[in-house]
Amino acid sequence: MSETGVQVGVFDSGVGGLSVLRAIRSLLPAQDLLYFGDQAHVPYGPRSLEEVRTFSEEITRFLLRRGAKLVVVACNTASAAALQHLRLTFPEIPFVGMEPAVKPAAETSRTHRVGVLATPATFQGALYASVVERFASGTTIFQDTLPGLVHEIEAGRLAGAETRRILETALRPMLAEQIDTVVLGCTHYPFVIPLIQEIVGPSVQVIDPAPAIARQTRRLLQPPGYLAQDQASGSLHFFTSGAARPFIKILPRLLGESGPVEAVRWDGLNLPD
Ligand code: DGL
Repeated sequence: MSETGVQVGVFDSGVGGLSVLRAIRSLLPAQDLLYFGDQAHVPYGPRSLEEVRTFSEEITRFLLRRGAKLVVVACNTASAAALQHLRLTFPEIPFVGMEPAVKPAAETSRTHRVGVLATPATFQGALYASVVERFASGTTIFQDTLPGLVHEIEAGRLAGAETRRILETALRPMLAEQIDTVVLGCTHYPFVIPLIQEIVGPSVQVIDPAPAIARQTRRLLQPPGYLAQDQASGSLHFFTSGAARPFIKILPRLLGESGPVEAVRWDGLNLPD
């Protein structure tokens, strides 16, 4: 029997994880969802793995206090920095994490040349190194960290001149190297897929891992009976460590729907109860 009212916690450095939340919502519309965007500390990408690990643990504690029974780390950077640590620290909680989708890219690329877009911290982490080592032998990988793009997306500039410049600077040299696949290794980037696809053209495939993450969330919810089925539409609650107003404004644009948004002050080391 399924318990109703089981909350799934989802977090990211900012609005990027909404691309994952959108996919979860579409696959599991009855599930109650909590979302935390750590906009006081965005971007995570240039920070040290230790710092991102500390933030991730504190956000997880916050989501568990609010009733989350499963946590989706909807951030490649936080997954690189903290996933292993979170699983050890909270052994009773199932976690879903992200890793750049190098495996499907390497399997489907015809040119065996793949572009990966992710943050500096994600590229530094052991998770990425292990994914490349396990799945990308025989594939040449071209990497770029797209400096400034997360900032543009947080500000809602999904098709602005600066957004285009950052993407073209990264993608043009990759196209010159005959890539035929682009991996989105940061959850902010799916929001600029239309622009990416316009730059790379229709023959290059762009891989957004969000639907696969939603399916993995469903798989992990099933065995403990956490999958909600008894209500038409699950609740949505949003928390930001930044200001509520800009988050409220951008939410319907990115997610296609809205819900209550609470600003949470994060002054010292710990989040409030
Ligand atoms: N959305 C994030 C990721 O998937 C982090 C972006 C950032 O804060 O730098 O990596």
